[in-house]
Order: sequence, then C-alpha cells, then structure tokens
Amino acid sequence: MVNIAVLGYGTVGSGVVEVINTNHSHINKRAGEEINIKYVLDIREFPGDPVENILVHDYNTILEDDEVSVVVEVMGGIEPAYTFVKQAIERGKSVCTSNKELVAKYGAELLADAKEKNVNFLFEASVGGGIPIIRPINQSLTVDHIDLISGILNGTTNYILTKMETLGLAFESVLKEAQEKGYAERNPEADVEGYDACRKIAILASLVYGKQVDYEKIYTEGITKITRDDFIYAKALGTSIKLLGTSKQIDGKVYAIVAPFMIDESHPLYSISGVYNGILLHGDMLDNVMFYGRGAGKLPTASAVVSDVVDAVKHRDTNIMTIWSAEKKKLGDIEDFSCAYFVRVKGSNMEEAVEQAFGSVKFVKADENLSSETAFVTGVMKEKEFKEKIKGFDLITRIRMA
Ligand code: HSE
Repeated sequence: MVNIAVLGYGTVGSGVVEVINTNHSHINKRAGEEINIKYVLDIREFPGDPVENILVHDYNTILEDDEVSVVVEVMGGIEPAYTFVKQAIERGKSVCTSNKELVAKYGAELLADAKEKNVNFLFEASVGGGIPIIRPINQSLTVDHIDLISGILNGTTNYILTKMETLGLAFESVLKEAQEKGYAERNPEADVEGYDACRKIAILASLVYGKQVDYEKIYTEGITKITRDDFIYAKALGTSIKLLGTSKQIDGKVYAIVAPFMIDESHPLYSISGVYNGILLHGDMLDNVMFYGRGAGKLPTASAVVSDVVDAVKHRDTNIMTIWSAEKKKLGDIEDFSCAYFVRVKGSNMEEAVEQAFGSVKFVKADENLSSETAFVTGVMKEKEFKEKIKGFDLITRIRMA
C-alpha cells in the first residue's frame, strides 16, 4: 500500500479525493499497488465530509510521517506551497502538483531537488488541466526538435471570446456572466490579462528547450481590448480571435508571446471553443501534433493529478529524467517577431495613406456602422516595422494574425 497526502481541499483537492475513491480499483491496478489517502491538509474544517477523519491542520504531521511517500500539492500560489513541496522532496517524498505558478517559477529547482533525492516532481495538471501534455513532451516527443508550441491555454478567456463571437456580446457583459456562473474568478486579472497563459507557455517552452524560460520575459497581452467590432471584422475575414500562448523558433531564435491572434479556419486551433484548451506542437520529424480537452475543472484537473500519483507510485526509487535546467533560455526580442496584422485606423477613405505606409494590403469592409474607419490586413512584418509604419495614423486596434 502507498500512502499519500493531499495538501488543499479546494476544488482540485476534493476532485483528487473523488477521482481516487470513484476509480479506486482501476487506479490501483494501474499503479500496481493500493493508493491510500492518509491525510488531507487544509486550514478549514469539513464537518460531515468523508475526509473529516483524515483532515490535519499541521503540515508537520505529513512531513514527519515516513509512511507518506507521495504528497499532492493542490493549494495553488507560491507560498506556502513552495516551502511545503521543497520540504517534502527533502524528506524523500515524491510530489505531484497542479500549481502552475509554482512550476513556472521553481520547476527547474524542484526537479533538481527531486533528482538528487531520487524521487519525482510531477506536474501534468499545471498546463492544460486534464489534457496530457507534460508527459507527452517529456516522454513521447523526445526525437524531434520542436520549433512551435502554440496553445489555447486558458479556458476562461476562450469561453469569453467564444461567447463574444457567437452571441455578438461585449467583453464586459460576457465576463460578468462568466463570473456569475463561476467560470471566471471574482478577480479575473490573471486570466483576462494573459498571466495564466503566460505561466503555462513558460512551462511548456522550458520543457521543450530544457532550459528555464522566465515568464517575466514573455511578452503578454490579454483580451480586455478585444471588442464586438473586432469580431465583426473577424467574421468578414473568415477568422476567429483566440488568445494564444506561443513559443516559436524563427531563424534560430525563440520568440515567446501571449496575445490575441486572428486565425483562419485552416488553423488547427480554429475550432477550439468554449472552456476547452488546445495545444499544437510542430516537430521537425513529426510535423504537427495537437492535444485537445478540458483545460480546467475539478475532475479533469484531478484526473491529471492522479495520473501523476500513479506514475510516482510506478517509479518509486526511480527518478523520471526530466530535462529542465536552471540555465536561462535566451528569447528573441519581441520587436523582431514577425507576423501579419489586422489593423483598424480612424478615418474613412484612408486607403491611399495606408498603402503609402504599408505597401499592398488587403482592405476589409465589414459593416456600414464602421464606415468612419479603415480596416486592413498587412503583409508579414516585424513588430518594430509595424510600429514605424503605423506612426501618423490614429490607431483603433491591431490584432496579430497567425
Ligand atoms: N483559470 C484557468 C483557466 C484554470 O481558465 O484555464 C486552469 O488553469
């Protein structure tokens, strides 16, 4: 029997308990041993809940119990999660976590600690919720040079953008509805400003390149400036607008960016709607490969966490090699990132001025209510070139195209 402890009895923590209880015999068969939840740690009481008898409030009870060999950290945030995880590994316990903030910031360090102690630090649920993506990158996609990772990595923003697109609603009203339904957090900043997607693409890029990609270095734009009118143009162009977290290798340099992109229906991520996530990778041998599923939610996320527990049990006394060193991966300057742009500038009949600045472009006519502006799609150019050419125009918005 393997004893585990679950740190945090919130949405994911209670999901972990539910997944283990519901699929108990199936999971035990896969793990090769019976998995027993010996403790649940939380500061709160849960009277009448099945975990009442195994609930503890002092982490030292878990830390000092040598019978606990796997710790599941699903509290979120940096502290006390970082200290608890560090101490658990130090005591020779494997750790499975869904905590993307922790993994993005301390992944390299905690992996090195786990290697030294011959245990495992596993984090499948930190990106893409229930979608297997960490293990495939680490254990399946080992042959290719991955030159592109591009994903819809945040379910909340994809839900908001999908509703804006399909119902013609404004950002604020969809956000409000999403908050009322509990899909979006009361404080939605991490999702709508792209910070959550930024941490996730940092984790994926770190794994792909085997070096630390600092999320602070990733250019990040959220979806708060996307309007109903942008979707009217998107429809006229046969495109959709998605918040993409992308890491792309161009001419030997790696660029990482989180921003809304217009993508057309030939793009593999075009049809990823609602709360779903999709992650596209391109390898030099493999070509495209895509992962799709529920990127959030209690049971899908818990399913990924418990899959890590099974892996930890199967690899007791064996460190699963994961290449992610603390050495920093140098990123290309975002000013040199190239793409085409969808652009809206104030003023009708700006065609001549636009072509003088941008050369040949594709003009877009969408709606007679938008006749006081000029919209167009540029050719592919660097960010710095775009900034230079747009000087002198009264810019309403610009959306990159992928
Ligand atoms: N807030 C995140 C999302 C939760 O909406 O995708 C999963 O990381």
